Amino acid sequence: MRTSAVTGWGMYVPERIVTNDELARSVNTSDEWIASRTGIRQRRVAAPEDTTSSMGIRAARDAIRGAGLTPGDIDLVIVGTATPDYPFPATACLIQDALGVNGGAFDLEAGCTSFMYGLSIASAYVAAGMYRHILVIGSEVLSRILDWTDRSTCVLFGDGAGAVVVSADDRAEFQPQFVLGSDGSGAQALTLPAGGSRMPASEATVLAGMHYVHMAGPEVFRFATRVVVESTERVLTKAGLTAADVDLFIPHQANTRIIDYAVRHLGFPEDRVFLNIDRYGNTSSASIPLALCEARAQGRLRTNDIVVMVGFGAGLTWAAAALQWTGSPLETSAAPSHRAIVTVP
Ligand code: ACO
Repeated sequence: MRTSAVTGWGMYVPERIVTNDELARSVNTSDEWIASRTGIRQRRVAAPEDTTSSMGIRAARDAIRGAGLTPGDIDLVIVGTATPDYPFPATACLIQDALGVNGGAFDLEAGCTSFMYGLSIASAYVAAGMYRHILVIGSEVLSRILDWTDRSTCVLFGDGAGAVVVSADDRAEFQPQFVLGSDGSGAQALTLPAGGSRMPASEATVLAGMHYVHMAGPEVFRFATRVVVESTERVLTKAGLTAADVDLFIPHQANTRIIDYAVRHLGFPEDRVFLNIDRYGNTSSASIPLALCEARAQGRLRTNDIVVMVGFGAGLTWAAAALQWTGSPLETSAAPSHRAIVTVP
């Protein structure tokens, strides 16, 4: 079995910034309510010409270049998204073609957890020796599926894309560990009811706003606080780590109150928790790769660091990961680590 690691990363966010104050001019809300209940101060909103694929392509190009590769080296493209360009064909195929990748491509839909699910697949394929370099993208244009008159949802989300390259990497001392979960009994808590085969789009569904995000906020909140703590604890155990070993904790950026609750229960010091929700809101599948890129750019993620990530979302789904950050092979070679890591099968 080969160990796998993230060897390249890239992100793209649309230029347009929409502040809470700007939203408060069109819906009955306020900067004070949004910031205190969610931690969000602003979000990015895609321009009319931006699509999930176009943003994913921009993030992917940087990730591939950063890994010291060319698109011809990529064996597989996985796109995690709840807002694909089309129900079909897969957005991954559009990105594969635009980049010039000669390999497989598919979309993966696990709500906001899609990127994390994709990362687990990439990691396992690489570990099994099936592929050498896999592109995993989380890209979302949530602004196109929001009801901009519904204050309970439109203030929460933002657009963006993040991408990583997962490669075989012998510098990593342990194989990334994952815990994936699903509880479909909560499916109706977060859903886009119309436009699928169960309720095809019609004039009536559009008039009823069934093509927008519908969310039972407090129910999702209770679910999220529970699974973030439980799955993080489980992945730490699986990786043979304790909270004290973790250099950076990257939670899905959905609500700072969810994150604060989890961090208190898990015992991570505040300076080891990465937050950028204030600037981007909840970007769903893009949230964790965006945070990874920004953490790296800010020097919060160093070679050999242990990083734990946890996501949750529609399904309901959740996923936690523990991995060692080896960085790009283009960077100076990693200093030897002094950690003794024993993973639990
Ligand atoms: N501005 C002002 N008031 C508002 C707003 C707003 N934007 N939104 C709701 N309110 C009001 C409600 O109408 C309600 O008023 P009422 O008491 O008169 O009925 C009051 O605020 C409280 O509403 P709640 O929904 O109980 O507020 P809560 O404190 O639970 O916060 C929130 C709502 C922020 C949505 C919270 O429940 C939450 O974050 N839930 C989790 C959501 C989440 O993480 N979703 C994404 C997960 S998956 C993914 O990433 C796609």
